[in-house]
Amino acid sequence: MSHEKLIYIHPAPVRVWHWLNAAGIVLLVATGFQIRYAEILNLMPLKDSVSLHNFAGFGVIAAYFLWLFYYLSTGKIIIYFPDPSTFVAKAVKQVKFYGYGIFRGEPNPHVMTPENKFNVLQQKAYLGIMFVLLPAQMISGVFLWKVKGYSDYIHLLGGIRIIDTIHVLFFFFFASFLVVHCYLATLGHTPLAHFKAMLTGYEEHH
Ligand code: HEM
Repeated sequence: MSHEKLIYIHPAPVRVWHWLNAAGIVLLVATGFQIRYAEILNLMPLKDSVSLHNFAGFGVIAAYFLWLFYYLSTGKIIIYFPDPSTFVAKAVKQVKFYGYGIFRGEPNPHVMTPENKFNVLQQKAYLGIMFVLLPAQMISGVFLWKVKGYSDYIHLLGGIRIIDTIHVLFFFFFASFLVVHCYLATLGHTPLAHFKAMLTGYEEHH
């Protein structure tokens, strides 16, 4: 047991949102593969995979509103926005760390605090995911769920092909994101440190 200071980094609503969201996206990706490649994959009947996909999709949407409500009502949403005046310098340092310094045992240039828990690369990535990609995926998913009911909106946005292309492209993004995100999450002071922190709320300060 180390004697490092413990800091409370992930409040309960963030943890609940995160694991509901993670389970939902894993299910969506698995059933998405089954729906998209039904001719060559046979993990479960198509009808069941569509039902499960819809169920997980609405779960992810509900969890998203928990995330949004928590971060907006506490004003903590600010942690997702990088400071433009220091962004480039900090991004260069962070890229050097991930590409080189980390293999030489150098310290992470970003020091995590509850008010500033993400490094600038995380801020940029999470900002894009939570404010652009995930909303676009949720909206296009709802449109594809009831094509007839939302035909006016679908038409307004360029037609069903455009909506379907967005949904499939972002599906590939989320499938790849899961791999990269899980790898990056192992880069704490021990491989499981960030996973434990997302479960307990506490991260060891090094
Ligand atoms: C099996 C799937 C997943 C695992 C094991 C996992 C693991 C983790 C871990 C350990 C952290 C804390 C370290 C960090 O901040 O990077 C984290 C944070 C985060 N993850 Fe995931 N994740 C998963 C899926 C996802 C998915 C699908 C998304 C988004 C679509 C996501 C979005 C985020 C965000 C935005 C944070 C920062 C949350 C905050 O502190 O406000 N994660 N994840």
